[in-house]
Amino acid sequence: MTKNEGVTDNKLWGGRFREKTDKIVDSFNASISYDRRLYSQDIAGSKAHCRMMAKQKIISGEEASQILAALSEIENEMDRGEFSFHEAYEDIHSAVEKALIEKIGILGEKLHTGRSRNDQVALDLRLYVREAIEKVNLLIREMQKVLTDLAEKNIDLVLPGYTHLQRAQPVLLAHHLLAYVEMLKRDRQRLQGNLVRVNVLPLGSAALAGATFKLDRDMVAKELGFGTISDNSMDAVSDRDFVLDFLFAASTLMMHLSRLSEEIVIWSTQEFNFIRLPDELCTGSSIMPQKKNPDLPELIRGKTGRVYGHLMALLTTMKGLPLTYNKDMQEDKESLFDAVDTVEQCLMVMTRLLKKLSFNKEVMKKAIDKGYLVATDLADYLVGRGLTFRKAHQIVGEMVLYGIGQKKEFNQFSLDEMNRFSKEIENNVYAWLDPAQCVERRNLPGGTASERVKKSIKKAKREIG
Ligand code: ARG
Repeated sequence: MTKNEGVTDNKLWGGRFREKTDKIVDSFNASISYDRRLYSQDIAGSKAHCRMMAKQKIISGEEASQILAALSEIENEMDRGEFSFHEAYEDIHSAVEKALIEKIGILGEKLHTGRSRNDQVALDLRLYVREAIEKVNLLIREMQKVLTDLAEKNIDLVLPGYTHLQRAQPVLLAHHLLAYVEMLKRDRQRLQGNLVRVNVLPLGSAALAGATFKLDRDMVAKELGFGTISDNSMDAVSDRDFVLDFLFAASTLMMHLSRLSEEIVIWSTQEFNFIRLPDELCTGSSIMPQKKNPDLPELIRGKTGRVYGHLMALLTTMKGLPLTYNKDMQEDKESLFDAVDTVEQCLMVMTRLLKKLSFNKEVMKKAIDKGYLVATDLADYLVGRGLTFRKAHQIVGEMVLYGIGQKKEFNQFSLDEMNRFSKEIENNVYAWLDPAQCVERRNLPGGTASERVKKSIKKAKREIG
């Protein structure tokens, strides 16, 4: 049988087939409905490949110019939304190649020389993740700036710090906010680590074993801004670790956003009432007229689940795949795209929310005065007078028990009452137990004393850039 006797069905790979593809294959197999998002990366990769082939004399300079001009035309059509991404195209790589052949005829068929969709899709995805990292990094930076500004503006505000969601010790609100700046710093570091591993050129690996043409891979890497080229063609076409890295970084970031969301939800309840959310960023109830609901932080908290889901989905997809490329891997894209969209949206929403919320200073202040938040400081006071910490802890514990019975905080105890528990306590204890003093006393690196926190704000500003 000659090649022409096969029913090519106009597929890029039709030559080997006798029968027309079943419609169910076309629709089940196609990724064009979502991988069309990769068109600019796909065309950038094709252009670099084309220029390199001209330099290597695999195609002529004139041929390269025609291919490059047609690729630019296709990109413009796609930019303007004029390109119809039909299912029959299968995927973005076939769509661009078909469009090229339609424009410049047989010459367009040369572009795929020394290249496979396997190294092509790996390249496109790496270019995409690289851009996503840059965008997410900038959005995190914006959020860090807003948090740092909030910390600076409210540097005097003291509120209860919690462990187990029980009042623990007084802290500066600024210290609390800067804790999130730290989390976000690690998120950015994770993304930078991701970037190092993303920035490796897979093109030139072809289907799996490398190409027979004299491709200049270093030239393509340089043109596309990759730091290095992949060392093993089989790994290069089957590796999706860089997508998993991104999804893990995105999941951890979402976990941080979700913790902050939870605090915003709790703090805006009537029970806590530490913050006021702006009306413009809240919603109401269709039945309960009094409601003002914190839907935005709740949704961020909720969307964390779907990003985790994408990480688990791809880990599971990749598990047990034999080398090298397997079609299972086409399932990587929707997870990745949705994770990128979700993370970007959540960062924007959270930043807006932080810019607009206000703190109920009086409520915070009152909250510190109830619940024996200064009990540790009272124990430390006794240690200063020669008691062991364990003994001091025991005494203060008994004082708390007495206070609860009498409905009295420590500053409402008379000195006599204090002395019933320890003769070491003197009149200076009242000043010692002033919550602001308790904050200032924690003047070690990393502590909540205002001097330390001010330094942290300066450091954060430098680091945020
Ligand atoms: N659409 C495919 C994907 O997303 C592109 C690679 C296809 N390669 C192949 N040999 N069928 O993974």
